[in-house]
Amino acid sequence: MIKKDKIYEFIQQETQRQIEMIGLIPSENHISSAVSEVLSCVLNSKYSEGYPSRRYYEGNQFVDKIENEARDRVKKLFEVPYVNVQPYSGSPANSAIQFTLLEPGDTLMGLALSGGGHLTHGHPKVTFSGKYYHSVQYGLTPQARIDFVQLRELAKKHQPKLIIAGTTAYPFTLEFDKFREIADEVGAWLMADISHITGLVVAGEHPSPVPHVDVIMSTTHKTFRGPRGAMIMVTKRGLERDPRLGEKIDAAIIPGLQGGPHNATTAGIAIAAAEAMKPEFKQYGQQVVKNAQALARALQDEGLKLVGDGTDNHLMLIDLTPQGFGLGTQVAFAMDVAGMYANRNSIPHESCSPFYPSGVRLGTPLVTTRGMKEKEMKQIAYWISLVVEEVKKYELPKERIKRSIFIKEFRNKILVNEKLLKIRQEVTTMAKKFPLFKW
Ligand SMILES: Cc1ncc(COP(=O)(O)O)c(C=O)c1O
Repeated sequence: MIKKDKIYEFIQQETQRQIEMIGLIPSENHISSAVSEVLSCVLNSKYSEGYPSRRYYEGNQFVDKIENEARDRVKKLFEVPYVNVQPYSGSPANSAIQFTLLEPGDTLMGLALSGGGHLTHGHPKVTFSGKYYHSVQYGLTPQARIDFVQLRELAKKHQPKLIIAGTTAYPFTLEFDKFREIADEVGAWLMADISHITGLVVAGEHPSPVPHVDVIMSTTHKTFRGPRGAMIMVTKRGLERDPRLGEKIDAAIIPGLQGGPHNATTAGIAIAAAEAMKPEFKQYGQQVVKNAQALARALQDEGLKLVGDGTDNHLMLIDLTPQGFGLGTQVAFAMDVAGMYANRNSIPHESCSPFYPSGVRLGTPLVTTRGMKEKEMKQIAYWISLVVEEVKKYELPKERIKRSIFIKEFRNKILVNEKLLKIRQEVTTMAKKFPLFKW
């Protein structure tokens, strides 16, 4: 990189931020130096529209080998017969699957955003999947678990062509067998979006969707710990139902939705898949879950309430309603000032608003990659409890009109809060002991 370009300076600053802070965003991870190396290699200079041996450009002999290898590794890792590694990211991959299985106006079902679903799972009105298809959203029980009674009733009533089992802010195990029963009752395709839990599935820490679903989508940059991208898999079951399903998905990616694949990302996926095959990755997945459980328990011991009372996977949601009204934004911002970054999040049956929600979402993939264990989780929970104590007096105004100015003033005050800045020093001292990537 040209060192005098200020972009280089900004990257240095971002590197320092990541080193000095504790990352608790459950959808992020630190990539290995091997993945990082291939992301900045000559593969960026190559156009390869099409698929191996069927390209629209010459000079793809080696790119073909890389893409075939990436597909073979993912097939082996998940024990699936078909893989496409070209989606630019999770959202286009989900669009491609819907584009393959549905016609405009067909019915699809996904978990509502408010229950921990993703925008691309049919969120109404504003998204591609909510606008072009008839979307029916299912929700959660009062115990914050997927409500299979409601899901079955809605499926029987609306006869969806596609049911999506997948989540972005759901702390519990996804029971793919129960989804299958309902999909079979109404003759729907069943798709799993395992973006968040791929690493746990590979490590055997979450049941695999492979025996139960037809199609699987996963981003590659979350618990899988690869480059930003996505992969689509078709299971044996999916191919039995439609032997041409793989080809149809290929065609939905290109020419349907995308142009040339990001070849450096494809190489990064191949490297990440090889890393995921190692025994160390299994240990990583186990520690992610152990850390999440330790963090959840310690937060509860500090008197904080968790949605659904805990976690089975890598993430949890703090429900801040016992501390006050609409505190998610304030706590997430104050945590950042104190050196720990997470994100504000709606809680199930949210009583405030999606923009100023009552929860904060936390996860352990980043800290586990850095080598932190249960002891550090206890310390982090303690710091978070101090942050909540410090800002709980800043409840969101009930009058909507006053909210944005209130948040602006809150931010200015909290940026110079001495207690939080003192916690930040302690956080930084601990964080620096754990390199971003250990090996
Ligand atoms: C379950 C799920 N699906 C899809 C996506 C979309 O992925 P991307 O941000 O790569 O488009 C996400 C990202 O947060 C996700 O959590």
